[in-house]
Amino acid sequence: MAEEAILGYLLDNEEITDSGQFSAEHNLSHDEVVNVIKRLHAFGYVDCQNIKRVSSVLTDEGKKYAAEGSPEVHYFLAVPAEGSISKDELQKKLSPSDWKSTTSVFRIGSIYAVKNNWVERGKQVSRKVQHVEDKVKNLLLQIQEGMEPDEESLNYLKTTRRLVEEKVWKGYSVKKGPNYAPKRMSFATDLSRENLQNWKELEFKEYNFNAKGQPVDAGHVHPLLKVRKQFKDIFRQMGFEEMPTNNFVESSFWNFDALFQPQQHPARDSHDTFFLKAPSTTRELPEDYVERVKQVHESGGYGSRGYNYDWKREEANKNLLRTHTTAVSSRMLYALAKKPFTPKKYFSIDRVFRNEAVDRTHLAEFHQIEGLVCDHGLTLGDLIGVLQDFFSRLGISNLRFKPAYNPYTEPSMEIFSYHEGLGKWVEIGNSGMFRPEMLLPMGLPEDVRVIAWGLSLERPTMILYEIDNIRDLFGHKVDLGLIKRNPICRIGIE
Ligand code: PHE
Repeated sequence: MAEEAILGYLLDNEEITDSGQFSAEHNLSHDEVVNVIKRLHAFGYVDCQNIKRVSSVLTDEGKKYAAEGSPEVHYFLAVPAEGSISKDELQKKLSPSDWKSTTSVFRIGSIYAVKNNWVERGKQVSRKVQHVEDKVKNLLLQIQEGMEPDEESLNYLKTTRRLVEEKVWKGYSVKKGPNYAPKRMSFATDLSRENLQNWKELEFKEYNFNAKGQPVDAGHVHPLLKVRKQFKDIFRQMGFEEMPTNNFVESSFWNFDALFQPQQHPARDSHDTFFLKAPSTTRELPEDYVERVKQVHESGGYGSRGYNYDWKREEANKNLLRTHTTAVSSRMLYALAKKPFTPKKYFSIDRVFRNEAVDRTHLAEFHQIEGLVCDHGLTLGDLIGVLQDFFSRLGISNLRFKPAYNPYTEPSMEIFSYHEGLGKWVEIGNSGMFRPEMLLPMGLPEDVRVIAWGLSLERPTMILYEIDNIRDLFGHKVDLGLIKRNPICRIGIE
């Protein structure tokens, strides 16, 4: 309706000067006319220009006075023509119940009746004039009818009395546009079989090459998995084989004892480690190897003095959720030692568990990245070289090493990198050379050295994806939308 009216009008007329007037004359809603103008403009049928009108309208209070008269006149009329009336009585007469309200006729009326010099107000109230004119009401009625009073009166009603306020009205003036036609063509929008068959009769809508496509409804890979893939690729490029990490439950033996971690070590406390209730103990361990591990803990060997304590089998049998993937490395090295030795490069990236207080950077479970190389005669220099190669593939070339302690490595080094964003050296991993007390009971040749390192997967992922709370990355509070929206981040932490 509105569309036909506008296009039809422009056929015979130069311009619609005012969409508001046009709507009123054609009995159309202005909102509808505006919508149609916008649509026609988008298709080039019309050109349009904004017009804006500021008009005065009555506030609710203003409307009330326009209908019933101003409170000062009510007040004046309530004062007897002769003699006087007490304030209390006047109040009862005017607004008996709501005299405290802000629109009280008694309260407001008295202010302006006094200001206008209409009444004398002491304890008693009496008239000073006999006739008054309700100027406020008359002005309000004028405004209601669309007339503008003089500037001073308007200001008084707006700012002093707040009976009138400004309203901005927006509309358009409209002319023919470059594609003007008295009737709008409807375009075919679909490349359907029918439309293609009738293409000669149809006008097709132009393609909008800037339009965004429909979001693809598909599965999305979690940031941790994306970064894991990138780490895997790096390990593979460096010739590493992946270790099988598909057992979250591990015995204390492989998690601790095989790694020459003494049974009194605080990490073996239930405050730090989750022990299993059922099955609480492991079913089998390689007995001859267990015997050699017991020996090395109790009294040493291979040039070591051991720890000099009573090693208990029950402690080694306890099942737990593995606290590091180094448990897997110890199993792999033991398996390697059973065959004629060949050098190996192994890696793994999988979940580990620690009984820790959860905060914005710690969860009770996380993922560890672990790499190890075993070969004859490796040195600390090889470890540093491999670490430099590994981390430079992540875009991290500025490394520093700090002596550290692990029960199973000697020497041990924490790995630091200079973080440009934070402006300081941050720890990015832990490393070392496995001790002879760990390797020789397994049966590895005496000159075989194993260099190894470990880091968390969460930390680089959080840096890459700019996530500062680990609970936004992992666990039940993760917003799945984030996984859909986040882009692929290329490793290149620096
Ligand atoms: N297992 C160590 C950790 O949990 C990491 C590590 C792996 C250290 C290998 C040295 C050698 O932090």
